[in-house]
Amino acid sequence: MHAIEVLNLYKSYGDVKALSGLSLNVRLGEIYGLIGPNGAGKTTTLKILAGLLRPDKGFARIYGYDVVRQRVKALSMIGYVPENPVVFQNLSVEEFLYFIAALRGLSKGYINDRLDYYLEVFGLASKRDKLMSELSRGMVQKVLVTAALIVDPKVLLMDEPMAGMDPESQHVFKEEVRKLAARGVTVLISSHLLDMVEKLCTRVGIIHQGRLVVEGTITEIKRMAAEEPGSTLEEVFLKIIKSR
Ligand SMILES: Nc1ncnc2c1ncn2[C@@H]1O[C@H](COP(=O)(O)OP(=O)(O)OP(=O)(O)O)[C@@H](O)[C@H]1O
Ligand SMILES: [Mg+2]
Repeated sequence: MHAIEVLNLYKSYGDVKALSGLSLNVRLGEIYGLIGPNGAGKTTTLKILAGLLRPDKGFARIYGYDVVRQRVKALSMIGYVPENPVVFQNLSVEEFLYFIAALRGLSKGYINDRLDYYLEVFGLASKRDKLMSELSRGMVQKVLVTAALIVDPKVLLMDEPMAGMDPESQHVFKEEVRKLAARGVTVLISSHLLDMVEKLCTRVGIIHQGRLVVEGTITEIKRMAAEEPGSTLEEVFLKIIKSR
C-alpha cells in the first residue's frame, strides 16, 4: 500500500482546468517534492488530499482511505500546511495551536510535549502568549508548520512550507522533516525552492498543466532529461518545462 495514492484526478474551476488526469503515488516514509510552474495544479492537488476540495473525477487516498468517501478517516492521518495562512488573528499562538488540536479531537495534554518542543526549536517559545496578529510573516509560517506537526500525522502535506522562514528556521525545518521521515512519516511538499527540494526530497514529481510530466529520484530525472550528473534540479526543471 502507498501512503498517498492519486489516480487520474480531474478538477476544474469554472472553465479553468486545474488538474487533467493527475496520477502519483508516494510510499511510506518518502519525502516527495511536487514542483511545477505557477498554476500547474500543486495547491489544487494538496487541497484535494487535505479534503478541502472535491475532485471532479478520479480518486485520492491517504493510507488507503478515500479522501471523499472516507474523509474523516483520511483526514485523521494528515498534517497540512496551507499555501495561504488563514489564522485567527485574535488568538494567541498557544490558543491557536490548542484550537487546531481540539479540531482533531486531541487534548492539550496529548500535544503539549510536542508543542513545547517545536516552539523551542523554531525559536518561538517567547511568542507563546503573543497574538497571531503580532507575529511576523515568517513566524506565522513556523506556527502553521508547528500546527501540522503537533497532531502527530502519518502523512504531512505541505504547500510551500518554508515561505518567509529565515535560514536557521529552514535548516531546523529540513532536519525535523528528515527525522519524521526516518520514523516512517510520509511527506509531500510543494515548493519552488528547487535547491531545498534537491537536497531534501527522496523523489520528485514535475507537474505541468495539471498532469505529472516527469517523476523519479533526482538522479533518474536528470537521466531522463539527458542532463549531466553535475547539473542542478533547476537546470533540469527549466529544460523539461521549456520542452513542453
Ligand atoms: N479558487 C480558484 N478559482 C478559480 N481558479 C482557480 C482557483 N484556484 C486555482 N485556480 C486556477 O487553477 C489552476 C491551478 O492553480 P493552483 O493554485 O493549483 O496552482 P499551483 O501549482 O499551486 O501554482 P503556484 O505555484 O502559483 O502556487 C490555475 O490556473 C489557477 O488560476
Ligand atoms: Mg500553489
